[in-house]
Amino acid sequence: MTNELYRPQFHFSPQQNWMNDPNGLVYFHGEYHLFYQYHPHGTTWGPMHWGHAISKDLVHWEHAPITLEPDEHGQIFSGSAVVDWQDTTGFFNGEVGLVAIFTHHDQDPDSDLPRERQSLAYSSDSGRTWTKYSGNPVLTDSRFPDFRDPKVFWHTQTNQWVMILASGQTVSIYHSANLKDWSFASQFGDGEGAHVGVWECPDLFELAIDGDPARTKWVMLVSIGNSPEHREGSRTQYFIGDFDGTAFKNDASPETVQWLDGGRDNYAGVSWSDIPAKDGRRIYIGWMSNWKYAQVTPTESWRSAMTMPRSLALISRKDQIILVQQPVHELNHLKLGTYKWNETIVEPGQNLLSKLDLPYFVIEAEFELQTAAEFGLKVRTSNFSETVVGYEMEKQEIFVDRSRSGEVSFHADFSGRHAVKAETSDGRLKLQIWVDTSSIEVFAGEGEAVITDLIFPGEEEQGLEIYALHGTVKLISLNITPLKSIWTYNGVPQSNV
Ligand code: FRU
Repeated sequence: MTNELYRPQFHFSPQQNWMNDPNGLVYFHGEYHLFYQYHPHGTTWGPMHWGHAISKDLVHWEHAPITLEPDEHGQIFSGSAVVDWQDTTGFFNGEVGLVAIFTHHDQDPDSDLPRERQSLAYSSDSGRTWTKYSGNPVLTDSRFPDFRDPKVFWHTQTNQWVMILASGQTVSIYHSANLKDWSFASQFGDGEGAHVGVWECPDLFELAIDGDPARTKWVMLVSIGNSPEHREGSRTQYFIGDFDGTAFKNDASPETVQWLDGGRDNYAGVSWSDIPAKDGRRIYIGWMSNWKYAQVTPTESWRSAMTMPRSLALISRKDQIILVQQPVHELNHLKLGTYKWNETIVEPGQNLLSKLDLPYFVIEAEFELQTAAEFGLKVRTSNFSETVVGYEMEKQEIFVDRSRSGEVSFHADFSGRHAVKAETSDGRLKLQIWVDTSSIEVFAGEGEAVITDLIFPGEEEQGLEIYALHGTVKLISLNITPLKSIWTYNGVPQSNV
């Protein structure tokens, strides 16, 4: 890794060349495996491989050799990986191993096979080497030209493997006893949620409500592809409901649309668990970009990064069940010494933070609302640029405004302001703002409102500001903490202070 401009310092990015979706996230024998859509021969999308990285703590990653390369069945599109604890596949002579379930994508116009089909590969050495299954593909359906991104999990209540995958603008669910033979179970999505583009990368998992394993709901994530009519580009929606092993039933009315992220750069994410129990935590990681402009972002030898890993949970509030996201606690290990402020009134025209200059850091703030119509923080500022994270009182929204965040001219739809409802609790608002060299992730309250956005400020744009407009706001507490880099350069660990 090198220390080049925009290289994320606490997010995963490929050493070089193009990356998109995270794939096959799995925890096995004390290691987290991250696979990802990878084009090893260029910095834009091209013939897809699975890249690979391994981590022991979800924060520091070691780059590993490419796992899967295109073959006679086509390119290797997105998919998932499971631990086959009971050797249901027979690949492991009664032992335990890893199985990847992925889409083979074939663009050969002369082929009369369906364009996308599901295949397997397996590893008996903790993900170091992989063998493609000789019986590939294991699932095809010629009705759907878009038939991809299988997410597979073991459904403990009915003792079988379940696969959910994207089929046009629906998701299809299948069952299997051995990952090789699949039978159709149900389809979901007609008339439900948003249909502004092709559905991609679905996920389905069970979460406890308020941490009580006796009360659970199922959450379905569905990413929606970029379409020219849709200025927002790619985004991920979610549904909360019930799943009996065969069919998913959405609790919300069909026309309800719920976005996982109020920003523009959290797509094709996947969830997984490192504690195989329904009250265990559910971790999530997304691709931190957007098909609208992903291929023209202003980096040179590499493109794209992943979001921070987050843990997902359900909480009940009034009569609603809400999906919340929080950065995983492991990220706290990156914290260096904290600058602290308590009980301060913020007034228009005054900046408490004028002496600070920081490239990557986390801000944890709690405000008590007073008369200010808008208040918040500006990060990576200079005389010419700023990324604004604010709260607008009248609309009860948090927002990120990246219109002056540095380099924004590479695509007409990049510049902008992205807002999402964020309720205050007893007149107070908590914000966590994680800023890396080319991204910002904002979590409000318990994580019920999240904004993930790329930004490309210059090296010298490192100022900070706290502001209030048309009135005052009371700062209850403010912690600003520089972070250590997760990378070493020439063997030397990096820190930014
Ligand atoms: C989502 C996606 C997937 C597909 C992969 C191809 O970003 O389009 O549907 O499998 O990327 O790289």
